[in-house]
Amino acid sequence: MTTPDNQTLLTRSLAAVWHPCTQMQHHAAHGAMSLPLIPILRGEGAWLHDFDGNRYLDGISSWWTNLFGHANPRINAALKTQLETLEHVMLAGFTHQPVVELSERLSDLTGGALGHAFYASDGASATEIALKMSFHYWQNRGEPQKNRFLCLEGSYHGETVGALAVTDVALFRDAYAPLVRQSATVMSPDARQARSDETAIDVARRAAAALETRLQAEDGRIAALIVEPLVQCAAGMVMYDPEYLRLARALCDRYGAHLICDEIAVGCGRTGTFFAHEQAGIRPDLLCLSKGISGGYLPLSIVLCRDEIYAAFYDADITRGFLHSHSYTGNPLACRAALTTLDIFKEDDVLARNQIRAKKLRAALEPLRQHPQVRHLRGQGMILAFDVKTDDPAFSRRYYRAALNRQTLLRPIGNTVYLMPPYMIEDAEIEQLGSVAQEALAEALTGC
Ligand SMILES: Cc1ncc(COP(=O)(O)O)c(C=O)c1O
Repeated sequence: MTTPDNQTLLTRSLAAVWHPCTQMQHHAAHGAMSLPLIPILRGEGAWLHDFDGNRYLDGISSWWTNLFGHANPRINAALKTQLETLEHVMLAGFTHQPVVELSERLSDLTGGALGHAFYASDGASATEIALKMSFHYWQNRGEPQKNRFLCLEGSYHGETVGALAVTDVALFRDAYAPLVRQSATVMSPDARQARSDETAIDVARRAAAALETRLQAEDGRIAALIVEPLVQCAAGMVMYDPEYLRLARALCDRYGAHLICDEIAVGCGRTGTFFAHEQAGIRPDLLCLSKGISGGYLPLSIVLCRDEIYAAFYDADITRGFLHSHSYTGNPLACRAALTTLDIFKEDDVLARNQIRAKKLRAALEPLRQHPQVRHLRGQGMILAFDVKTDDPAFSRRYYRAALNRQTLLRPIGNTVYLMPPYMIEDAEIEQLGSVAQEALAEALTGC
């Protein structure tokens, strides 16, 4: 196999690969709207290396997946061993050690509250599974009127047709509106909405009151409320107080609806605790995990549920079972990567060490608080974000290019710039993220 150079691979990719979340013509554009496509040869630690000797600091963990660095030696070694043992077997009618161990360990991490694990490959599928399980649970329980879902304003739970029903992002949803059975949205507890006399807790209470009004109006027809606990990431790192989760839990109990926590982005230590919902002292009925659970190595998603939900499907009648399946469900390599990820959390005391890293990341961004166009500098664990006051529609692309020119991958969501680096990031890399965040801002705002 010959190694191509950057330009050759770029040209071939543009001809043959349809890239995700991209208007492909922007890759061919020039000027403010241009969007570079970067060929990557290899990864090492927090760095991505191209074919021409350039490298990029992965400040967003490759779409929030990578926890312990690229080509992590421990995960690599575990995968090599697993590869020699069992690469894949269908999970219907068969089982294997990695999937059993992973299910048991995840159950333990929820204190045994969510003791049944259902597997898929990507986040959107986990959302679909959680929605279908909730819906089917109420059918099996003889309450078919509970067939609607609630989600938060600005929510993002994936882009398959079912997941779009609970995704409130017009850019992703509107083109497919006729295909989608849209769910009702309720007020987001976004702490930035605090009035001058309000705290984040007050906003959380206001949003919970709006939720209660909606649950009352729906009169027992809501199957589940789905939330991204603590941070609505794709909405632009919208952060909120855990009080909302406590109140939402109580309301779901009172009105007989499930609470689904989508921790696809915020799980696995991202917000400071292993699961984000732990900060509210609650447990959901259904929990979705993906992204970081395999260390950012392999497509894997998991829906954990309570005994009561599992029991409602356990029956002699096949149609009362949960017949959902994917070919690669519970893939042994992906489960092995996840088990090694859990080992690293334990062996390296990752959550405690992340507290120190998060403090350093906050300090590195702190000078931006004085910037006249920066608003709402905020942080939650290993997620840092700020909003930029600008009307420039090309801001995020300008910023992305300016950061790439400084060997750093930072990809704003609209006018929100955020850092979400791998957990093994070193002090010098944190400093680089801080200085590039500021320099890229100055460059992106120039000429607007
Ligand atoms: C909260 C949340 N849910 C679901 C998804 C969808 O995951 P996937 O892209 O793997 O389908 C994402 C992806 O960013 C997400 O952030």
